[in-house]
Amino acid sequence: MKRPSLPETKLTKYQASISLSVALVATILLTIPAKSETLVERGRYLVNTILACGNCHTPKTPEGNPIAEKELSGGVSFTTPAFNAIAANITPDKETGIGSWSDDDIKRAITEGIRPPQAKLPGVPLAAVMPASFYKALLPRDLDAIVAYLRSVKPVRNEVALPEYKMPVVHQPYPDAEAGFTTKDLQDPVRRGTYLATIGHCMECHSAREKGVSDYTAGFGVGGRKFGPSLVQGVQADWKGSIARNITSHSEKGIGAWTDEEIKRAITGGISRNGKKLEPPMAFGWYSNLSPDDLDAIVTWLRKVPPGG
Ligand code: HEC
Ligand code: HEC
Repeated sequence: MKRPSLPETKLTKYQASISLSVALVATILLTIPAKSETLVERGRYLVNTILACGNCHTPKTPEGNPIAEKELSGGVSFTTPAFNAIAANITPDKETGIGSWSDDDIKRAITEGIRPPQAKLPGVPLAAVMPASFYKALLPRDLDAIVAYLRSVKPVRNEVALPEYKMPVVHQPYPDAEAGFTTKDLQDPVRRGTYLATIGHCMECHSAREKGVSDYTAGFGVGGRKFGPSLVQGVQADWKGSIARNITSHSEKGIGAWTDEEIKRAITGGISRNGKKLEPPMAFGWYSNLSPDDLDAIVTWLRKVPPGG
């Protein structure tokens, strides 16, 4: 027997009222602003753009590309007159990563460069290459976001060799981080740019440096710091010798005469004004995912860096 079917256009009163409510909900959803980003999303954005934690902490292929499935499981090996250290495994693996650390333990390591009591080297300061004196500037919500993101990445088992310290560890203070920031600063393009450039530690690489000490006054942003080759997990790595350039607003020695687009192409694409490819260690690949607003703020800040060099 053939089942009687309702003509599709004729809805019962009940069905009609459901479809009306669906339409209403859809309208409401479209008119309210997009849900603000969660802590993990904010953390993912910061860690994978301006902070570029993975530029040091994620192992790379011999060509220098980060290996996604080994994200943050231990990366670049640094050999300097002051220390030999490998960027640690900061995945949530309990034994070889930071899975047994509390939120406060992780925050203290990031912003003060101190290990917690349960670390393999309890309470011992982290080598100065871990940019804690810049991360000191992190706003509380951003720090919470970073921790939330670190907890969300895949735990990877990878025992990283313990560091060796040949001199006492000194984390040189960075003036803008010492002065600090407020959430309101993020609304102002210059302050927002200053914040991003601080947590991105641009001037740690780009300022003049002698005997391991950076000059954040006369040498601020003038370039000249040399980066030698280093090792990634025993593989000869991407950090070819390159020399940081003058990024002050000086019209000849610096980038004062560059257009905004040229500056953005250098930061996010690793291409200099003359079209030449820029070499590591600057984190071009990470910066390529910066939001347009954040990139504009960084350019606004760069324009204010006093000419030098
Ligand atoms: C310029 C390279 C570099 C960058 C960038 C960097 N780190 Fe590190 N980090 C290191 C090195 C090297 C060590 C190990 C130092 C040592 O053993 O003395 C370390 C250690 C740590 C530790 C301590 C882990 C342990 O087991 O001792 C944490 C946590 C950490 N980093 C988190 C981060 C986070 C989060 C970011 C991004 C916001 C970041 N790091 C960015 C180089 C870096
Ligand atoms: C880890 C060190 C490091 C960090 C951090 C870093 N840079 Fe660089 N940057 C370099 C080096 C080295 C070069 C030159 C590379 C070359 O010549 O191949 C460079 C090149 C540049 C250039 C191109 C200059 C030119 O004349 O071609 C710009 C612009 C620049 N950096 C801006 C920034 C900004 C802005 C930040 C922060 C968001 C930053 N850098 C963070 C090391 C760094």
